[in-house]
Amino acid sequence: MYAQQIKSTGKGVQSLADMTPEERAFQERIDRGEKIEPKEWMPDGYRKNLIRQIGQHAHSEIVGQLPEGNWITRAPTLERKANLLAKVQDEAGHGLYLYCAAETLGVSRDELFEMLHSGKMKYSSIFNYPTLTWADMGAVGWLVDGAAIMNQVPLQRTSFGPYARAMVRICKEESFHQRQGFQIMMVMAQGSVDQIRMAQDALNRFWGPALMMFGPSDKDSVHSAQSMAWKIKMNTNDELRQKFVDETVPQAEYLGLKVPDENLKLNEETGHYDFSQPDWDEFYDVLNGNGPCNHERLEARKDAWAEGAWVRDAMMAHSEKKAARKQAAE
Ligand code: 3HC
Repeated sequence: MYAQQIKSTGKGVQSLADMTPEERAFQERIDRGEKIEPKEWMPDGYRKNLIRQIGQHAHSEIVGQLPEGNWITRAPTLERKANLLAKVQDEAGHGLYLYCAAETLGVSRDELFEMLHSGKMKYSSIFNYPTLTWADMGAVGWLVDGAAIMNQVPLQRTSFGPYARAMVRICKEESFHQRQGFQIMMVMAQGSVDQIRMAQDALNRFWGPALMMFGPSDKDSVHSAQSMAWKIKMNTNDELRQKFVDETVPQAEYLGLKVPDENLKLNEETGHYDFSQPDWDEFYDVLNGNGPCNHERLEARKDAWAEGAWVRDAMMAHSEKKAARKQAAE
């Protein structure tokens, strides 16, 4: 089972008239900009939506280690190896903060992993694409981490306290990753003819999938309206995609690389770039389990879970022994 469940759970936005007094008071707290903490009352839909989004986000961080982990031993210098290793470890840390934030909502880590492994819960579509050359490490840092921070910086203001706080450190680290990727691209783009060709090829392959990271266009986004009313999301998918294009195109120009979009043009009236939509059929196909690496990624995660069982068992046994020793001493 490699499909990420295509059927969405979104139900649209709840109107004030449909709310119970408790729900209305909750909405007023959100509107005033108050943070919601785990033990406070919250509507069931708010809790479920957060578990869905934070869970998907945590899974993305963990699965996102795979395409880069693949390059640690092949990075061109010892320094590049050490930097990439540190970056991949950062992503593991991000996954852990996010799983902890999701756990405060009453879901266990075992349940979250079970939903990932069975395909009930999604992870970002971007990680179902292969990383073929060293330039891809540059493109992933520059574009993928770049898209991630575009989305995640506003999430530092999200209404759920543990999620907002986790985002602060994650964003600092992701910003560093983006710069690290850009620096790899800069070296490649100023290198030999073959290195320039590799840098351009990486941009060509990652541009469309990076645009897809922001989710379907607003008219097809099932969760945006309710998630924005609850401040689980701070911007729409299209707003963030536009911001990403506006900031990234000048960076590509600086590198001397060409964004693979014939329709890309600065619109003098709006001050924003006009650009082509990514291939949405491909997006849904990847979500449906048919991306180039869906099978490989999910198998790697399932194997890691199975092979790590003895560590979890040992930790449980250790903590039980410790608790028993403490009780005996009391
Ligand atoms: N990949 C996989 N699934 C996606 C997706 C993508 N790029 N974009 C949207 N979807 C899914 C949604 O999860 C939803 O499915 P569901 O109902 O089964 O959960 C469905 O498509 C409809 O999309 P919506 O626009 O209605 O969904 P959302 O309102 O949740 O918006 C989102 C999607 C913008 C990704 C939002 O969930 C979000 O902001 N999430 C938090 C950030 C996040 O998860 N980022 C992952 C990026 S990778 C990363 O951070 C790793 C780093 O190391 C680079």
